[in-house]
Amino acid sequence: MSTSSATLPEASNRTFEVPKHPEWPVLSASEKETLKARIKGLLKEQNAVLVAHYYTDGDLQDLAEETGGCVADSLEMARFGTEHDAPTLVVAGVRFMGETAKILNPEKKVLMPDLEATCSLDAGCPADAFTRFCDQHPDRTVVVYANTSAAVKARADWVVTSGIALSIVEHLKNKGEKILWAPDKHLGHYIQSVTGADMLMWDGSCVVHEEFKSVALERVRKLHPDAAVLVHPESPAEVIEQADVVGSTTALIKAVTTMANKEFIVATDEGIFHKMHQLAPGKKLIEAPTAGQGASCESCAHCPWMAMNALQNLAEVLESGRNEVIIDPATSERAVLPIRRMLDFAREYGITMKGKGNA
Ligand code: 13P
Ligand code: SF4
Repeated sequence: MSTSSATLPEASNRTFEVPKHPEWPVLSASEKETLKARIKGLLKEQNAVLVAHYYTDGDLQDLAEETGGCVADSLEMARFGTEHDAPTLVVAGVRFMGETAKILNPEKKVLMPDLEATCSLDAGCPADAFTRFCDQHPDRTVVVYANTSAAVKARADWVVTSGIALSIVEHLKNKGEKILWAPDKHLGHYIQSVTGADMLMWDGSCVVHEEFKSVALERVRKLHPDAAVLVHPESPAEVIEQADVVGSTTALIKAVTTMANKEFIVATDEGIFHKMHQLAPGKKLIEAPTAGQGASCESCAHCPWMAMNALQNLAEVLESGRNEVIIDPATSERAVLPIRRMLDFAREYGITMKGKGNA
């Protein structure tokens, strides 16, 4: 079994800036209601539907649900966009989510509150360097995480999200295939440890999940011995090792609602607490530590790119029609194949939004 990682210089140095969290003006309750009403009117007028990720601001999540859109993990966001008949999709999340929606629905208009909202996994896996890496390993099946650009997806055999990655890699392993995995090394190592698949890894990581600290987590666990530990698999191995549940955002939310524990220590973006509190109001949710003794945090468990989505810029794009996601048709035609392969696999194996048996 191969466990080596890519050592291309392009892959090992951070070549992108992690932005500061944007400071949105605080709105009074009545200003917020006025803005929400305006957005609701615009969505209706334009026959548009809002698709939001669990890490976005709680007001956006509520608005998506109140207007017949959805709030979901990245697998379900992709699926919802293809199944809904609205001609315009407004994606509140990060760039790869908007691009996936556009690739799957080229005939639809896809808008995003901020097109600069990228992801460290996407930014840390440039298509040219990735192509060279693939070219060096032609014997491997290329499996990429959804958190990548359209051009990287266009070079892949399979696209996976955290909700389906384990099942797909297991399936490929059973067929005797060797895998080239990109870009998240932590998710890759976790999947490799569970499936035993032969995976060659790209050296990427999520700047949010990588900050969870295992020693500090041990201390928090001692303070809350009855708490269940919920961890997103983009976290480092020493954090994952302490988990009671490792899974996608959907799987972690499901754990809070179904497990008997009264307390949970949660190692993922704090945006997820909104839905967890809504579905399990009686449970105590504790943030897993991102800054242990003497350490400081850069993202502090909140993705700076997800934070670029707000009511204000959502209203703006609906009014102006700006920030449309455009993808070169040749790239899109190639990238749609591995995404469809994932959705077909999900259908065939009955992997639903409820995260059946998956990460
Ligand atoms: P999910 O697919 O689990 O929602 O994860 C997306 C993501 O970007 C996590 O950081
Ligand atoms: Fe990317 Fe991490 Fe933000 Fe998710 S939380 S979008 S993986 S940077």
